[in-house]
Amino acid sequence: MTGKAYLVGAGPGRADLITMRGLTVLRQADAVLYDRLIAPELLDEAPSHAERIFVGKRPGHHALRQERINELMVRLVHNGLQVVRLKGGDPCVFGHAGEEAAALAAAGLPYEIVPGVSSAIGVPAYAGVPLTQRGVASAFAVVTAHEASETASGIDWRALAAMPTLVVLMALTRLDVVCAKLIAAGRDPLTPAILISRGTTAQQRTLRATLATLPDAQQRAMLPPPAILVVGDVAALNDTLAWFDPASMPAHHMFWEDE
Ligand SMILES: C[S@@+](CC[C@H](N)C(=O)[O-])C[C@H]1O[C@@H](n2cnc3c(N)ncnc32)[C@H](O)[C@@H]1O
Repeated sequence: MTGKAYLVGAGPGRADLITMRGLTVLRQADAVLYDRLIAPELLDEAPSHAERIFVGKRPGHHALRQERINELMVRLVHNGLQVVRLKGGDPCVFGHAGEEAAALAAAGLPYEIVPGVSSAIGVPAYAGVPLTQRGVASAFAVVTAHEASETASGIDWRALAAMPTLVVLMALTRLDVVCAKLIAAGRDPLTPAILISRGTTAQQRTLRATLATLPDAQQRAMLPPPAILVVGDVAALNDTLAWFDPASMPAHHMFWEDE
């Protein structure tokens, strides 16, 4: 048997937001390497013989370093297994899929990338926040709040501040810095902004404010991670388009640790 790796996007949270292709390969897996932010029901979809290996972060434990994950995946595929690397959202959006693909390619092993619904797009949709809307916003950018840290890559905050819609992942730990940087870079402090926590699940919560007031509002509301920040006029559409009722979802345990 020739082994193969599948770098699969599990979608933003709700289990049935995985793609049909993702579910098909998951049901044929011999081994599943999974992260945080994966619905547990998805792991039940793998065959009973499949080994389920958690490679994400646990509180108090170090995550398996990326190189170790690459090595493990290469070894399993080399041994002839069908290996599914299951990642939250889309594997190519802040998901290290490129590094894992490079390791497999360097080892001469076959792999397939199965795209997923990124939380950057799916979570705002579940909060009634379309990222583009005629007459409101005609472009969007996605960034992580790590860009607001000292180890950032030197991204141009004026360009981000000028985007009609800006989506910020890993938004909680540096929320105040991100909002302050955008205002300093020229964004109107009155711009609508929304935090969306644990989107698409029974635990989804939103917090609507302005760019200037959101950090204080979050100090009081304390929405838990993972969360996404959306800045731009589309954030105000949540006031009328919030269609999703989290209470309609079965409560289930997610591996939520993040940031
Ligand atoms: C390391 S990034 C991975 C992104 C992923 N590859 C994707 O396409 O969604 C993790 C971040 O995604 C966001 N995220 C993922 N799932 C989420 C959810 N259900 N609700 C809110 N934010 C979520 C959070 O900002 C979190 O910090």
